[in-house]
Amino acid sequence: MIKVAQRVVSIPPSATMESDRKARAMCAEGKNVLSFAVGEPDFPTPENIIQAARRAMDEQKTKYTNASGIDELKRAICDMTQHTLGLSYEPSEVCVSSGAKHSLANIFGTMLDPGDEVIVIAPYWVSYPDLIRLFDGVPVEVATTGADDFQPCVEDISRAITDRTVAIVVNSPNNPTGGVISSDVLTDLAALVVEKDLVLLTDEVYKDILFDGRSHTSPATLPDMRERTIIIDGVSKSYSMTGWRIGWALGPVDFIRNMSNLQSQMTANPNSIAQWAALEALTGPQDAVRHMCQAFEQRRDYIVAALCDIEGVKCTMPGGAFYVFPDISAYFGKKLGGRDIQSSKDLTDYLLDEAWVSAVPGSGFGAEGYFRISFACSMEQIEEGINRIRRALSVA
Ligand SMILES: Cc1ncc(COP(=O)(O)O)c(C=O)c1O
Repeated sequence: MIKVAQRVVSIPPSATMESDRKARAMCAEGKNVLSFAVGEPDFPTPENIIQAARRAMDEQKTKYTNASGIDELKRAICDMTQHTLGLSYEPSEVCVSSGAKHSLANIFGTMLDPGDEVIVIAPYWVSYPDLIRLFDGVPVEVATTGADDFQPCVEDISRAITDRTVAIVVNSPNNPTGGVISSDVLTDLAALVVEKDLVLLTDEVYKDILFDGRSHTSPATLPDMRERTIIIDGVSKSYSMTGWRIGWALGPVDFIRNMSNLQSQMTANPNSIAQWAALEALTGPQDAVRHMCQAFEQRRDYIVAALCDIEGVKCTMPGGAFYVFPDISAYFGKKLGGRDIQSSKDLTDYLLDEAWVSAVPGSGFGAEGYFRISFACSMEQIEEGINRIRRALSVA
């Protein structure tokens, strides 16, 4: 047996990938499993972006680029940030990576010394705590609840700060809840970050998927925050480009230079063709983004109403992203189809085995008592899936 380092042995497989893997295995056995586990838009990548990638290949843009990304893309990211947030960044303050997940890994790798603590607000995107641990940091969880619309409580965050705390991670719109942090909470949080001299990592990959006429607010725009904020973003969700692997971080030049050095040793540049495609995504027509967002909003309206109609299910109204995170704790301690339900994992296992519906247990996101349904799939699938869930939950 080849030795595996302890730091890697202790990493669990991602809860979302695991749920999707099981669903795929059942599909391969010929079972008609409906998967609500994956976190990627079901729309095709827009044609203008595909064409830009073809052009890049035809023009032999197939060689190493600057490790932190091509200047054209970095400039486009700065222009977009100026346009959407009114914040001025230079290309030297941008590091383009192979997806936002890679950006986050680079950030933690650049920032954390052993034992440094990072506050993560639960429910959280599955990868934050494991990435923090991978780089010898300590994730410190602060809980939020559906009853409070998953709004972080700034006093709770303040109580979690110690002399080892270096950063706080926020993600709005949020995966897995779809929650959008209110501007009052963001303002109080920013004041805390300044007072305690911390860094705020703001994961904004769902910023273009907002409902009910909301517009995106970044904490980087708040007083004294630009110099202590790192914005994480990418093209995966906004442009249905999950497989292309382009994300980026925007932050103070000194940190970004160090982060780029780390990346230059680990992977060098992200894929050159995907970078040119991402440039087209940011600078080309934006109507595909609006159409996707409208479709997600219609699905959200349907799915929230349908879930709330099921006895024992409580569901908040997501302000963005493409997830709902219903509270199913009313089923704990009950029997469904002869099985004891004690946890969100028991419930999602039951739904997969008996109703052939795949969803992700809340425990994977640091929030027992809930499960995540991604509505990045057709209306027909959503209707059929909700019917199956309703039937399965009414079997006492
Ligand atoms: C909150 C959040 N951040 C980051 C990512 C990673 O995105 P990328 O595909 O750019 O690596 C995801 C993907 O699911 C996500 O949900």
